[in-house]
Amino acid sequence: MIDKYNRKINYVRLSITDKCNFRCNYCMNEDAEFMKEIELLSLNEIEKLVKVLKDLEFKNIRLTGGEPTLRPDIIDISKIIQNYFGEFSITTNGSLMYLLAKDLKKNGLKNVNFSLDSLNRDTFAKITKRDDLNNVLNGLEKSLETGLNVKLNTVIQKRNFNEVFELIEFSAKHKLPIRFIELMPIGNNYNEDDFISEDTLKSKIEEKYSLIPYNKNFGVGPSKYYIIKELNSYIGFISAMTHNFCSSCNKIRIAANGDIYPCLAFDYHISIKNVIDNENLLKEKIKMAVLEKPQKHYLNELKKKTPMHKMGG
Ligand code: 5AD
Ligand code: SF4
Repeated sequence: MIDKYNRKINYVRLSITDKCNFRCNYCMNEDAEFMKEIELLSLNEIEKLVKVLKDLEFKNIRLTGGEPTLRPDIIDISKIIQNYFGEFSITTNGSLMYLLAKDLKKNGLKNVNFSLDSLNRDTFAKITKRDDLNNVLNGLEKSLETGLNVKLNTVIQKRNFNEVFELIEFSAKHKLPIRFIELMPIGNNYNEDDFISEDTLKSKIEEKYSLIPYNKNFGVGPSKYYIIKELNSYIGFISAMTHNFCSSCNKIRIAANGDIYPCLAFDYHISIKNVIDNENLLKEKIKMAVLEKPQKHYLNELKKKTPMHKMGG
């Protein structure tokens, strides 16, 4: 589908739960409130939705959360998506991938983005509030063994800025692209003192390494890639705040309760749960969401209330 600003929208991020076993400082507090079980799209409703997304010529589908691997029927969900799309991607904190990598791969999982903000046990626990680094690293190893296509995502903040070289060198050692994400003022906990810009980060990296712009992409997302010459590895920057990429946006987000968010920077959403049994109405609502995509975000002026985990990270 083409939107009002001539962007081709063919990528959907589908959240299957808003729950998470972590509490990353930029995402949720310990007392975060979650949707009631009954509000979530059921397996059957997910199937109806996925079929219609395929009919509307969406090309890429990514499961997100909260933490998508917490959903008890994720294996059944993966089978449904495999049926319609052949393959799919997932964004995960990785803590349960040591249990799930093999079965998900069998059911069409191809690309996995691991959120990994620190390799230091204490810093990891300070950011996520969980002492789970080991499980994540096991999940990473298992995913690589299984032959999944893995990328690393690091939200860069003051608290992990001093680990940049360690993270880069780890990614190079495992031959994984690493992408640094600029902190966005979304959710309840944004503190601008935590913010590190792409330019600040790049200057620091260039004290040690040479970055050569790389024109290819490793997926369908907004990351801008470079080759790290000395390590022969890839690094990407996802910088919504200082290098706006709205003009090439290709996605919509669907929350675990079926609310469609045309843009992550606005609280505006369209509910589809009440029309999920009516294919035509469902299609109309999805088309409407695409048409209502704003031209760009205003995150530099306006903070955004709905946290990432509620609208599909
Ligand atoms: N700013 C930047 N990235 C965020 N994520 C969650 N909240 C924010 C935020 N406020 C990231 C997670 C994960 C992805 C789903 O979104 O770290 O990599
Ligand atoms: Fe969980 Fe991801 Fe939010 Fe961290 S950022 S609390 S891993 S949903």
